[in-house]
Amino acid sequence: MIHFENVTKTFGDRAAVNNVSFSIDKPQMVGIIGRSGAGKSTLLRMINRLTPATSGRILFNGEDILSLKGGSMRRWQRDCAMVFQQFNLVPRLDVVTNVMLGRLNAQSTFKSLFNIFSAEDVNRALAALDRLGIVQEATKRAEELSGGQQQRVAIARALTQEPHMVLADEPIASLDPMNAKIVMDALREIHERDNKVVICNLHTLDTARHYCDRVIGMRDGVIVFDGAPELLTTDVAREIYGADESFNEAATSTSIDTPGLSARPTDPAGAVTPVATAVL
Ligand SMILES: Nc1ncnc2c1ncn2[C@@H]1O[C@H](COP(=O)(O)OP(=O)(O)O)[C@@H](O)[C@H]1O
Ligand SMILES: [Mg+2]
Repeated sequence: MIHFENVTKTFGDRAAVNNVSFSIDKPQMVGIIGRSGAGKSTLLRMINRLTPATSGRILFNGEDILSLKGGSMRRWQRDCAMVFQQFNLVPRLDVVTNVMLGRLNAQSTFKSLFNIFSAEDVNRALAALDRLGIVQEATKRAEELSGGQQQRVAIARALTQEPHMVLADEPIASLDPMNAKIVMDALREIHERDNKVVICNLHTLDTARHYCDRVIGMRDGVIVFDGAPELLTTDVAREIYGADESFNEAATSTSIDTPGLSARPTDPAGAVTPVATAVL
C-alpha cells in the first residue's frame, strides 16, 4: 500500500528525517513514537505533501505521490486525511460546516468559493458527526465545544473526505485522559470498521502499545524500532527515547489506558466496547 524509499527531509544542514525506508502492506493501525524533535511530524507531513521531501520516494499502490501536482496532488491530500493536535477547525463556523469543509477538494472551485453545499454534503456530514457521537452539537460554533468534542469534529471532517488513510499528528496531546480515550477509540474504530490505514504520531508509549498493531520508534530522524507493541520492552523504549538507566515509563504515559479497557482485539484482557462506538 504505502512504501517509503530512502526518504530524507533536511532543514538547513539538519536532517529531520534521515533516509527512512519502510512499508505498510495491509490496513494497519501504526503508531509512531519518539521524543519531541525525533521527526514524527515531518514524516507524517511528507505523506500528504504538507512538507516537501528533500529526497527519496513515497509510493502509494505503486504511484510516487511526491511527484503529484495540481489537481492530482489535491486529490491525494483528500485521500490521506490529516488530524492535528490543535484540531484546525474554523472556530466561528458551525460544526456541520466545519465537517463539510472536508469535502471542499472534491468540489468545483466555484462551489468551494461560495461554500455551496448540497443536501448530500449535509447528510454526509451529519452521519459522520453521528458516528462520532456528537451530532447534537452540529449547529453550535466550533469554538463553543470542548477540546475532545472539537477533535471528534476534526475526525468527522476527515471521514467525510472518504480517505484511503487517516494521518493523525499527536491527536490527543491537548486532551485530558477521558477525551484522549474517546478520540483514540474513534481512530481505532475507523481502522477496524472501515479497514483503513491509520498512522498516528504519539509521544506516549502506553497509548501506542494499547491501540496500535505496529509501532515505529523514531530517534533523531531515523527508525530505531519497527514491530509489534509486544516487542516494545523497557530497554527498547529507552533506546527510542534516548533515556538512561533512570528511564521511567510513567514519564511517557498519558494514563488513559486502564487494565481491561484495551482497544486491540488481540489483547487477552478481551475487547470492551469503546466509548465512541457505543453511541454508533
Ligand atoms: N519548518 C521547520 N524548519 C526548521 N526545522 C524544522 C521545521 N520543522 C521541523 N524542524 C526540525 O526537524 C526536527 C524534527 O521535527 P518534527 O518532525 O516536528 O519532530 P517531532 O514531531 O517528532 O517532534 C526537529 O529538529 C525540528 O526542529
Ligand atoms: Mg510533532
